[in-house]
Amino acid sequence: VQHPMIAPSILSADFARLAEEADAVSGADWLHVDVMDAHFVPNLTLGLPVVRSLRKATDIPLDCHLMIEDPDRWAVGYAEAGAYNVTVHAEAAADPVALARDLRAAGAKAGLSIKPGTPIEPYVDVLKHYDTLLVMSVEPGFGGQSFIADVLDKVRTARRLVDTGHLTLVVEIDGGINADTIGQAAEAGVDCFVAGSAVYDAADPGLAVEKLRALAAA
Ligand code: DX5
Ligand code: ZN
Repeated sequence: VQHPMIAPSILSADFARLAEEADAVSGADWLHVDVMDAHFVPNLTLGLPVVRSLRKATDIPLDCHLMIEDPDRWAVGYAEAGAYNVTVHAEAAADPVALARDLRAAGAKAGLSIKPGTPIEPYVDVLKHYDTLLVMSVEPGFGGQSFIADVLDKVRTARRLVDTGHLTLVVEIDGGINADTIGQAAEAGVDCFVAGSAVYDAADPGLAVEKLRALAAA
């Protein structure tokens, strides 16, 4: 079994204490940073200045999930701000192949995300240019929503394409991941599990990360 990666989402953390909240999950593989612009999704969170500061405040690689319009214009800034992985939405990117190239040239891994209703098939060729596929298992915009199990068919498709050598991707899932749902996602072939409320609503976020990882490996 490969090492299951856990990426706590700071969307459920205390935004006034981000450095401490990152420290609380120091065993995490990536720190998931949800950037929302109140246009692509009906919520507003944080942007480049916060990512720049967070980069200095933690050694955990930052996984920036851009739920924004016009990522072709903004995404490279997050790579330059020191994000390890920058994920854009397939539904929002005008030229996702050029965007992946620009992200890599700026020193980041390139991620492509698809909403629950977006099929994977039209993006298989585009995904050859990407390092990460982020399958949304809730409608993007808010933490604490219920897991949509239907998206696991897309995870299985991605897993098959990776295992047969057609794609080289970290398969990541985001939304509603907790102790009850992580097992089925792991079974479908997810490599990296984002968890917001399941980590930061726990009494001990660091322990919650280790528990989730153990369940994903089981
Ligand atoms: C939702 C965000 C998620 C969110 C997940 O739009 O992309 O990363 O933080 O939160 P939970 O794990 O609580 O569903
Ligand atoms: Zn996210």
